[in-house]
Amino acid sequence: MKAIVQDTYGEADVLRFEDIDRPVAGRGELLVEVRAAGVDAGVWHLMAGMPLIGRPAMGWSRPKMRVRGLELAGRVVAVGEGVTRFKEGDEVFGTGWGAFAEYVRVKEDKAAHKPANLSFEQAAAVPVSACTALQALRKGENAARVLVIGAGGGVGTYAVQLAKASGAQVTGVCSTAKADLVRGLGAEVVDYTSEELTGTYDLILDIAGLRKLGTLRKHLTRDGTLVFVGGEGGGRWLGGMQRSLGGLLLSPFGKQNLRGLFATEPAADLEHLRSLIEAGTVTPVLDRTFPLAQAADAVRYQHAGKARGKIVVVP
Ligand SMILES: NC(=O)c1ccc[n+]([C@@H]2O[C@H](COP(=O)([O-])OP(=O)(O)OC[C@H]3O[C@@H](n4cnc5c(N)ncnc54)[C@H](OP(=O)(O)O)[C@@H]3O)[C@@H](O)[C@H]2O)c1
Repeated sequence: MKAIVQDTYGEADVLRFEDIDRPVAGRGELLVEVRAAGVDAGVWHLMAGMPLIGRPAMGWSRPKMRVRGLELAGRVVAVGEGVTRFKEGDEVFGTGWGAFAEYVRVKEDKAAHKPANLSFEQAAAVPVSACTALQALRKGENAARVLVIGAGGGVGTYAVQLAKASGAQVTGVCSTAKADLVRGLGAEVVDYTSEELTGTYDLILDIAGLRKLGTLRKHLTRDGTLVFVGGEGGGRWLGGMQRSLGGLLLSPFGKQNLRGLFATEPAADLEHLRSLIEAGTVTPVLDRTFPLAQAADAVRYQHAGKARGKIVVVP
């Protein structure tokens, strides 16, 4: 089968479109024919091997896993021993390592039935980014005023919709190019290229921009919650994690709750998202689709930060 593989860390030039063996579903796994795979920011990190703190898990001098891609939607072509929730022919979405390929193994507990009202391309854009937004929002439940920094990107477009659905008043921070998109999702907009942040919020999701901890805390209510979700361009060793470590150290000394996030994609969250999507409460925002053979261009495009919402590759 065709897949996107790499044997060294680096920029997108290290990605190759090659023939490799088709995987086989093991115990508790599905073999899924990939119909579309999402390009989340983590793809770049695993490709580049950055930040270095992740290398023990990713592989110190070369990637342990050669095939890139994680979130996907497709059709089940075989089920391993012990699988009870799925059968051959089911349309699913979820995560599986090596999703930039024609087939991928997916653990049963990382999959759900595809939302009936979504195409495969739309469904592939959900698992990583929407689960991240959902889990970040859970850290500050019942927040009346929510600030989403990086509101026009993959995680941000879900965060705005999910926060709105919870009844919160939502403000999204983004560039001019994404202001109409973010407003259309139901948020008030702060265009960071021309406006300063004002006011205070019960919950801040810090998804992009690497603003200083002190700046963010100024815009947090006395007992508010700040969740460090991400941000590109930090140091080689820690990336954007430096600020969450600072938050972790400060948090016990005040009422403000300063938290990091390590998101996962459990079946229960995928099922919850499926029901919100089928009810029309949440809709994936798709910017562009690339052919699998051009996955390197897709990763470059994603990493440039210009995508409105999500991008996907299609085998
Ligand atoms: N903690 C976790 O478990 C977890 C899980 C998933 C992702 N992440 C991280 O979350 C981050 C975002 O991921 P993503 O998939 O949403 O990426 P993305 O699609 O590239 O979105 C990032 C957005 O940030 C905006 N942005 C850039 N500079 C900004 C600034 N100074 N202020 C406000 N917004 C700015 C960009 O657009 P504009 O500048 O045009 O507005 C872009 O829309 C990444 O760093 C990723 O690694 C973390």
